[in-house]
Amino acid sequence: MIDLRSDTLTRPDEAMRQALANAEVGDDVYGEDPTANLLQERIADYFGKEAALFVPSGTMSNQLSLKVLTSPGDEIIADADAHIFYYETAAPSIVSNVQIRTIRSQFGFPDLNDIERSIRPDIYYFPLTSVICVENTHNRHGGTIAPIEYIQQLRDLANSYNIKLHLDGARIWNAIVETGIDGTSYAKYFDTISVCLSKGLGAPVGSLLISSAEYIEKARHWRKILGGGMRQVGILAAAGLYALDNNLPRLKADHENARLFASLLSEIEVIKVDMARIQTNIVRFELATSINPLDFIEKCKKNGLLLSHFDGQIIRAVFYLEITSEQARTASEIIKYVLQSP
Ligand SMILES: Cc1ncc(COP(=O)(O)O)c(C=O)c1O
Repeated sequence: MIDLRSDTLTRPDEAMRQALANAEVGDDVYGEDPTANLLQERIADYFGKEAALFVPSGTMSNQLSLKVLTSPGDEIIADADAHIFYYETAAPSIVSNVQIRTIRSQFGFPDLNDIERSIRPDIYYFPLTSVICVENTHNRHGGTIAPIEYIQQLRDLANSYNIKLHLDGARIWNAIVETGIDGTSYAKYFDTISVCLSKGLGAPVGSLLISSAEYIEKARHWRKILGGGMRQVGILAAAGLYALDNNLPRLKADHENARLFASLLSEIEVIKVDMARIQTNIVRFELATSINPLDFIEKCKKNGLLLSHFDGQIIRAVFYLEITSEQARTASEIIKYVLQSP
């Protein structure tokens, strides 16, 4: 079976399992897990910030960021398809008592004029706009990369209204390897950054929140409240360290496989692929309206290919470390076969 549903499906290989098994550990609630501490220092350094905090998931990391950057009753701005709004079970309203103002966009990065128009005037009967979130790369938009000039301009805009910026960088790694812009150059525009180890990097569990020492101390307190204070967590942090050394440099291969697959699909008449959107490891493609997307997915499954139904006629395929270029080709062949069979 070729499983292209998500890059979260990665499983630790033998070498990563060895790294987990051999990890030096201690009690992280006491701050005494050497491997967790090393990972946190390394990640903070990589992004040029004072501190980082290991947490179980990207969702917790995003939510901790809102918790430290907002006060109850605030409003935050995000793209209408942002993970923090779309997939985090209304957590901002529960954990931080804030509401999200969403803005639609073409590639996941709302127009700066639209953002400026959405910032609330400073009048007592409005909520305070306290944070703008950027997702880079953008999951639902198909792995699109936020242009660095856009981020710079957004920072200027945010500064002029005294607004904080959060980066949901679950897949910032893909942007870094694709653009060659390093972690520090992205991170310097943001107050908080969340990164995931359990997507393209292939670790089984784990995300980090990265910020100033002050914000990370607040986040540590809230991590404990949310049940995220873990003990011998170095077992998991070791996978993160292994992934940084071994899996980060190879992410480009996933992008090449995504492009190969997308270009093969673009030859099929009843499929539309917007190649401008194929920037990293995710491929969104659109089926002609004559094709039932759920039937299509079912037939692909019967022929050995798992895909996700996204929205309407849109299907998603994600490339990650267990998927070879040969499998990318085979996946396109399966799709051709399915579309040709009655
Ligand atoms: C962009 C983005 N942010 C955050 C998350 C949340 O990560 P987790 O599943 O670890 O909570 C995901 C997960 O897919 C994601 O794609």
